[in-house]
Amino acid sequence: MIKNICCIGAGYVGGPTMAVIAQKCPNIKVTVVDLNEDRIDAWNSSNLENLPIYEPGLDRVVEEARGRNLFFSTEVDKAIDEAEMIFISVNTPTKTYGVGKGMAADLKYIELCARQIARVAKSDKIVVEKSTLPVRTAQAIKDILDHTGNGVNFQILSNPEFLAEGTAIDDLFAPDRVLIGGDITESGQKAINQLVDIYANWVSKDRILTTNVWSSELSKLTANAFLAQRVSSINAMSELCEKTGADVNEVAKAIGMDSRIGSKFLKASVGFGGSCFQKDILNLVYIAKSYGLNEVADYWEQVIIMNDHQKRRFAKNMISTLYNTVSGKKIAFLGWAFKKDTNDTRESAAIYVADDLISEQAMVSVFDPKVDETQILFDLNYLETRSDIENKKYIKIEKDPYSTVENSHAIAILTEWDEFKTYDWKRIYDSMLKPAFVFDGRNLLDKKELEEIGFVYQAIGS
Ligand code: UDX
Ligand code: ADP
Repeated sequence: MIKNICCIGAGYVGGPTMAVIAQKCPNIKVTVVDLNEDRIDAWNSSNLENLPIYEPGLDRVVEEARGRNLFFSTEVDKAIDEAEMIFISVNTPTKTYGVGKGMAADLKYIELCARQIARVAKSDKIVVEKSTLPVRTAQAIKDILDHTGNGVNFQILSNPEFLAEGTAIDDLFAPDRVLIGGDITESGQKAINQLVDIYANWVSKDRILTTNVWSSELSKLTANAFLAQRVSSINAMSELCEKTGADVNEVAKAIGMDSRIGSKFLKASVGFGGSCFQKDILNLVYIAKSYGLNEVADYWEQVIIMNDHQKRRFAKNMISTLYNTVSGKKIAFLGWAFKKDTNDTRESAAIYVADDLISEQAMVSVFDPKVDETQILFDLNYLETRSDIENKKYIKIEKDPYSTVENSHAIAILTEWDEFKTYDWKRIYDSMLKPAFVFDGRNLLDKKELEEIGFVYQAIGS
C-alpha cells in the first residue's frame, strides 16, 4: 500500500490531478513540488481566488485536502526522498532549438527530474510519467535511473492524463478511463497494481485499463491526434460552407447524429489551441519521420497545417472586410484563453490573430475574464515578431468589456466564455463606430439577434 506520493510539477496537470487524488485518498500523503516559488506560494495562498490556475471546482477540492494530506512545497529533494511513488508532471514544450526544432518535444525538464530522482533516492521507487511524452520516453527515464542511481530499484509506469482544461475536476472525478502502462515483468505488474489501487478508491475497476508502457504512451498521442483531427476536419468544411452557402452548424448537427460519428468535437472555430494538440501531433509527426514513415507523417501534419490556415484566414477575413485596412483602427478582442473556463493561453488562436492584425498596425484592445496583462504581453513577445516596446504600442489590456469595445471598429470573439452571451449587446453597439462589425470565431452569439441590433455579424462557416 502506497502511503506517500510526490508529484514534481505543480502546473495544469500536476496541480488538479494531485488535489483530486488527495481528496479521494485521505490516507495517502500527497506532496506537490515545483521549482517555481511563486507558483508554490500561490498554491498555498489562503485566498483560494489566488490559486495559480483557474479551473472550476478546484478551489473546493484544495480547500478540503490542503493541510490535511495535500501539501505544496519547493523542497523537491525532501519530497522525493520520502515518497514511494513519484509522478513526473513537468512541462514538455515543443523544442525551440537544435535537432527537431519546432517538432520534437523538449525533454530537458524530464531528464533533469530523472537525474534528480536518481541522485536523491535511497529506497525503491515507482516513477510515474504523467506529462505527455513521446513514445519511448519511459525507456530514457529508466536508463538514467538505472545507470546513475544508488543501486535502488525503479519501476517506471506511464499514466497519461486525459483531463481537458476547464473541465479538469469533473474529468478527474469521473474519467472515461484511466490508463496505466507498465513492464510485463512481475515487479512491473506489482507496480501497476499499486497505482490501480489508488485510482480504485473512486474509479470503477472496469474503467482502469492496463497495457504495456509503449501502448500507454502512444494512446495519449493518438487520442489527442484524433480529437484535433476532428476539429481540423470540421474547420476545413467551414471554409467550404462559407463559399457554398451551407451552414457549418447545420452540417455538424446532421453528421453528429450519425452514431458512428457522434456529436462531440464538431464545433467549427478560429482554430484549436492548448498545450496538447499541436505539441502531440508534432510529436507524432516527428516519431513517424524518424522511422522513415513519410506518408504517416504527412497525414498527421496536415491537421496542423489546416489549423494554422484557419487562424490566418480569420485575421485575413477581418482585414479584407474592414475595407482592406485596419491601420490605426481599434479592434476589440473578447477572449484570449485557448478555451473557456481556463486561464491557460498556450497556443491560443487569439495570439496569432492579434499578431497578424498588429502587423497591419491595428490597435488591439483585449478583455479576458481570467487572463492577466503580463500573460498577454508575454504571449505576443514569445512569437518574436516584434519587440516588447513595439507590441506595447499596439496592444491594450482592459479590465472591463464595455471600455474594451468603446469606439472600436470591430469585435473579434476568440474564446467562448459564457458571460459574453449575457452582455448588453445594444449598449455595445451604441458605443462602437459604424458600421459595427462582429467576427465571431467561436459561433457563440445569435446571428439574428445581433443583426437586428444593427451589427454586421460574421461567424465561422456560414
Ligand atoms: C486536450 C484533450 O481533450 C485532453 O484529453 C488532453 O489530456 C489534453 O488535451 P485541452 O487542450 O484542455 O484537452 O482542451 P480541449 O477541450 O480538447 O480543446 C482543445 C482545443 O480545441 C481548444 O482550443 C478548443 O476550443 C478547440 N475545440 C474543441 C474546437 O475548436 N472545437 C471543438 O469542437 C472542440
Ligand atoms: P502542464 O500543463 O503539463 O501541467 P505546466 O507548465 O503548467 O505544464 O506545469 C509544469 C510545471 O513543472 C511548472 O510549474 C514548472 O515550474 C515545473 N517544473 C519543470 N521542471 C521542474 C523540475 N525539474 N523540478 C520541479 N518542477 C519543475
